[in-house]
Amino acid sequence: MGIRKAVFPAAGWGTRFLPATKAQPKEMLPLVDKPIIQYAVEEAVNSGACEIIIVTAVGKRAIEDHFDSSFELEHALAKKGAETLLAEVRAISELAEISYIRQKEQLGLGHAVWVTRNLVGNEPFAVILSDDIIDSEVPCLRQMVDVFERYGGSVLAVERVPRSEIGSYGVIAATKIADRVYRVEDLVEKPDPADAPSNLGIVGRYILTPRIFALLGETRPGKGGEIQLTDGLRALLREEPIFAYEFEGRRYDAGAKIGFLKATVEMALKRGDLVKEFAAYLRRLDLPPEQ
Ligand code: UTP
Repeated sequence: MGIRKAVFPAAGWGTRFLPATKAQPKEMLPLVDKPIIQYAVEEAVNSGACEIIIVTAVGKRAIEDHFDSSFELEHALAKKGAETLLAEVRAISELAEISYIRQKEQLGLGHAVWVTRNLVGNEPFAVILSDDIIDSEVPCLRQMVDVFERYGGSVLAVERVPRSEIGSYGVIAATKIADRVYRVEDLVEKPDPADAPSNLGIVGRYILTPRIFALLGETRPGKGGEIQLTDGLRALLREEPIFAYEFEGRRYDAGAKIGFLKATVEMALKRGDLVKEFAAYLRRLDLPPEQ
């Protein structure tokens, strides 16, 4: 069965990364030498999704240019005989079939998903928030597709989150039904840590049934005046089972400064061309004492 379409909401302001995101999309910030969103698009493609739908807004043109072919650049690289770079640059524009749709007003993640309803149509689809970079042996979305195929309902990726941070997540109340798999009973967006129903926080990967579109269309603005995906999911839960899956892999919140720094360091240490010199540099660093 699989999942053919993956939606990438990328219309947010990226306020946690200002001023870097004033004039460039946060999705284009590089981890080592690859923009954040390319990691996520590659994950979707490696999970079987062949149609990518990116939700953009004003100031996000660089994303389209990145996945487009660049005749001038390719010509310049060919002339220089830079074959490896040329192949790398070409491969980006050949990754997948990509469509773009504008979210005219940033009314929230739920709204960003809703604007893709005509492009997605009447089939289950994935939503990927590219801020969440997930490094895993089997692509995270691929792991979730397996759960979707087995249980046949929407699937949310979850992670155990320390109590002190749970208030920044959508949180589930759930019953465990198999190794790493839960049946969701309720969801709350950014709860007070004392009221959080569990320590299972929803991270940026979802497989959703198309029923979500009609429900998002009826969802009124919630927390922060935004149309919350979590509110749409609560409505979906009243009609259909929803499952949660504790994925295998390491996640970085690359939309926040500290997560971005951790991802940069760890990704660089995994790179054969950089590891020796970079590790030697890190070892020599004179770190400030722990506070
Ligand atoms: P975030 O909550 O991370 O918001 O949105 P943001 O604007 O991107 O970043 P900060 O928090 O201000 O730094 C979660 C995801 O939903 C998308 C964002 O692009 C991000 O991928 N989003 C959010 C939209 O596409 N539209 C919106 O109206 C809101």
